[in-house]
Amino acid sequence: MTQDELKQAVAREAIRYVVEDSIVGVGTGSTANCFIDELAKIKNRIDGAVASSQATADRLKSHGIRVVDLNSVNELPVYIDGADEITEHLAMIKGGGGALTREKIVAAVAQKFVCIADESKLVGVLGKFPLPVEVIPMARSHVGRALLGLGGQPELRQNFTTDNGNLILDVYGLSILKPLELEAELNNITGVVTNGLFARRGADILLLGTAAGVKTMKRK
Ligand code: A5P
Repeated sequence: MTQDELKQAVAREAIRYVVEDSIVGVGTGSTANCFIDELAKIKNRIDGAVASSQATADRLKSHGIRVVDLNSVNELPVYIDGADEITEHLAMIKGGGGALTREKIVAAVAQKFVCIADESKLVGVLGKFPLPVEVIPMARSHVGRALLGLGGQPELRQNFTTDNGNLILDVYGLSILKPLELEAELNNITGVVTNGLFARRGADILLLGTAAGVKTMKRK
């Protein structure tokens, strides 16, 4: 199976977690896009969707799915999104597409986070994928120095502005053995909006696309 076929397989499986007559939280990226395409097939059975990025909102709307402001939602039973890396404890690196802050906000509201990923995303230790950090523009150099001090090599993502009008520093060279601690430490650097570690609010369920089929893993 190709990587795209694995993404489509997990997207199909994720539909089983959508709660009828409710609002669905929808992530960002190529795997989330596969999910949106599947969601379109059952759009009459949901009330609408909350989008984690402008790109996702546009794709949902193009399928005729109602996009709802998160502030108007009291309950969000499930959030479905991809990841750049994920461990067996369901801690993740996210933000390869730059949508990490809105993704983290929607994930914080959701009762259940279902991560959909092909098997290339499952890792023993997080950090081979450069960790995205969203930064207020005037704090770029200050945050960069702090990240160097933590042993990382930050690189400014070129020609990129987040949906929130900020910059992304991609941090190379981290071997993240304590994701919970690092997530908090990075958020404490003044000027950091958020970072792409999703450990404090990791996934609850991982649907992992493998050559042998979709494997379901639950948070330990
Ligand atoms: C978007 O900012 C990211 O967090 C994505 O969820 C992540 O990059 C996974 O994207 P793919 O499904 O395209 O690999």
